[in-house]
Amino acid sequence: MSVRAQAKVGDAAAAIDTPALVIDLDAMERNIARMAVFARERGLRLRPHAKTHKSADIARLQCAAGAVGVCVQKVSEAEALADGGVADLYLSNEVIAEGKLARVAALARRVRLALAVDSALGIDRLARAVAHAGSEVEVFVEVEVGQGRCGVTPVEAGRLARQVVAHPGLSFAGLQAYHGGAQHLRSAAEREAAIRHAVGAASAARAAVTSLGVACPLVTGAGTGSFVFEAASGIYGELQAGSYVFLDRDYADNEPAPGAPAFEHALFVATQVLSRSAAHAVVDAGHKSHAIDSGLPRVWRRDDIEFANGGDEHGILRLRHGASGKLPGLGERLWLVPGHCDPTVNLHDHYVGLRGGLDAGTVESVWPVTARGCVT
Ligand SMILES: Cc1ncc(COP(=O)(O)O)c(C=O)c1O
Repeated sequence: MSVRAQAKVGDAAAAIDTPALVIDLDAMERNIARMAVFARERGLRLRPHAKTHKSADIARLQCAAGAVGVCVQKVSEAEALADGGVADLYLSNEVIAEGKLARVAALARRVRLALAVDSALGIDRLARAVAHAGSEVEVFVEVEVGQGRCGVTPVEAGRLARQVVAHPGLSFAGLQAYHGGAQHLRSAAEREAAIRHAVGAASAARAAVTSLGVACPLVTGAGTGSFVFEAASGIYGELQAGSYVFLDRDYADNEPAPGAPAFEHALFVATQVLSRSAAHAVVDAGHKSHAIDSGLPRVWRRDDIEFANGGDEHGILRLRHGASGKLPGLGERLWLVPGHCDPTVNLHDHYVGLRGGLDAGTVESVWPVTARGCVT
């Protein structure tokens, strides 16, 4: 059964069925343009991360604004976006299962494709898959730059780069140096210090690669919390930020970095009040409508209201202590800013795109979440 979208093109905002995943198209387009200008003015490539939106439609808008392509995190995400017409993909994650590597190699016959690696086994398996498929894959060696997740030491990065260039069908595209742990450090000074460490590790890895006679064409990385610092480093040539396109509540809670473009909230969950008591209002959006791994949503433009978790299908709204406003009445609509955009998007089948603002806008687009559920 296909899931019915919450609105159709031409509907007024007030007619959107709830809960619904809604994009303020004007705000999103401004975010896309601001990041494109930021990268262009610094002579950097922009390859936004599509794990944020999982949407071929949004990826195409980013590419039309100057992005060289997009990053994805999963093989199935890459396949879905390729099917949606995105022609330049970087799978910025390790893939080790042979069945998946066969799919990577097959996909590389259809689109320009790069993959991250951090092991000799991963490179050998990828090389075999590519030889079997008769395709070509570009390879980034991932350096561990501070998060303590994937990636190798600078010295090991040199060895792996040399292993990559030994395989026909693989080309060494450079180094992946993404510091996930830096992104939500609240103060700009803490994030800058974390990226200083990442820059040190990436520089050492590049030196290790070139000392073995292998050219290192590019260092790629950065997220929405830190890209200003990678951009200023002189070593990163490509920015991978993703969440800037929507700016979720968790990112808005960061202290902005000096010189960062002013991004706006562009992703919302439309909800309405379905039950009311004297003390609280209950809305129809619970954590099946928005992810809560990074905390609860904020009620847009109602700082006097606190959102409390009401379970899978409900949210409970109460007036904050000392607030003078009124709780919304039965049937009243509100807009929630999700705590974390990526997993929120993965809960929905459709994006409803509003033009002309949230309250007064008109539905201009209804897009599928192209790679919804693509977790393999
Ligand atoms: C490898 C990689 N690059 C870039 C990003 C984008 O980060 P953000 O959405 O925080 O901007 C992520 C996010 O998890 C990532 O894993």
